[in-house]
Amino acid sequence: MRTFEVRGDGPVVPAQRPVPVPAAGEVLVRVRARSLNARDLPIVEGRYPVAVPPGRIPLSDGAGTVEAVGAGVSRFQVGDRVLSTFHPNRVYGALHSWDELYGVQRDGWLTEHIAVGEQSVVAVPEHLSFEEAATLPCAALTAWSALSGVGPGDTVLLQGSGGVSVFALQFARLAGARVLVTTSSAEKGRRLRELGASEVVDRASTPEWGDRVRELTGGVDRVVDIGGAGSIAGSIAALAHGGTISLVGNLGSGGGMDLTRFLNRGATLRAITVGSRSDFERMNRVVHQHRLRPVIDRIFPFDESPEAFSHFANGARLGKVVIAG
Ligand SMILES: NC(=O)c1ccc[n+]([C@@H]2O[C@H](COP(=O)([O-])OP(=O)(O)OC[C@H]3O[C@@H](n4cnc5c(N)ncnc54)[C@H](OP(=O)(O)O)[C@@H]3O)[C@@H](O)[C@H]2O)c1
Repeated sequence: MRTFEVRGDGPVVPAQRPVPVPAAGEVLVRVRARSLNARDLPIVEGRYPVAVPPGRIPLSDGAGTVEAVGAGVSRFQVGDRVLSTFHPNRVYGALHSWDELYGVQRDGWLTEHIAVGEQSVVAVPEHLSFEEAATLPCAALTAWSALSGVGPGDTVLLQGSGGVSVFALQFARLAGARVLVTTSSAEKGRRLRELGASEVVDRASTPEWGDRVRELTGGVDRVVDIGGAGSIAGSIAALAHGGTISLVGNLGSGGGMDLTRFLNRGATLRAITVGSRSDFERMNRVVHQHRLRPVIDRIFPFDESPEAFSHFANGARLGKVVIAG
């Protein structure tokens, strides 16, 4: 089978491997589509905080068809359409360890076939193509978890137009919330409005975007923060009294938190760790009920996987980047 592997200092490189034989309790998946997430860049470029062995197959997110099953498999049968889970061993509840990550400690989904435990995959929502489904495991579930508890009448602030934030925009609108988004370009702002953002604030031309959001709203109930050290001060500024910041990412650099202001806001800071398989299954029921369609920026053929990473790195995108075939 064809795969792409991490070399550790740049683009992924093509490789050949034998098609795996599913062990007892495993399914063999013919992968049809995968999607990229922010963490995949440092993994392939040798900048990930945990060592990645050369030759590792990257990517946590993939969708495909069950082609064979090992002894004792009962959740799926040959022909079923399945989808990866980001944490392959986290069926319920809180995360206990980060030490089973695709692309780091185990081979991931940038391959034609993968053998995985039947407990580590879920059914593809019926209305979605493989390309659409492959966008869900990391970004969509993270957005879903970050919005937990948000309901009609709440006000939500999102940051940027990447995978997590665009799913958060879709889920927050489904929940009946008013959504504001910060972004870096007028064109992205226009697209975000089309997707349901009621206000867009340009974070480049408005360095005090948190104060601006508070002026517009009187304070937001929830912030999904992806800038971390670079944005947490603005997130606190934007927050209503008693509001919550769901801390998802750390893409920026900066001065960090103003603890006095945080205390004055009576705020809550909650770290997000994607979600469990049962969270994912519940989210997928909602995705199916509302026929939600993921926003795909671009689909690359499998042979052009290195180009997909370059496109992902250049930042001029909105939504998810997918590798199909
Ligand atoms: N904790 C978790 O469970 C979890 C799960 C998934 C992802 N993450 C993390 O969440 C972050 C986003 O992931 P993603 O896959 O959505 O990434 P992505 O698709 O690469 O999104 C990046 C977008 O965010 C905006 N952005 C970049 N730097 C920013 C900054 N300093 N402040 C505000 N906005 C900024 C930009 O949009 P504009 O140009 O529109 O501003 C950019 O296009 C990453 O740090 C990722 O590692 C964490």
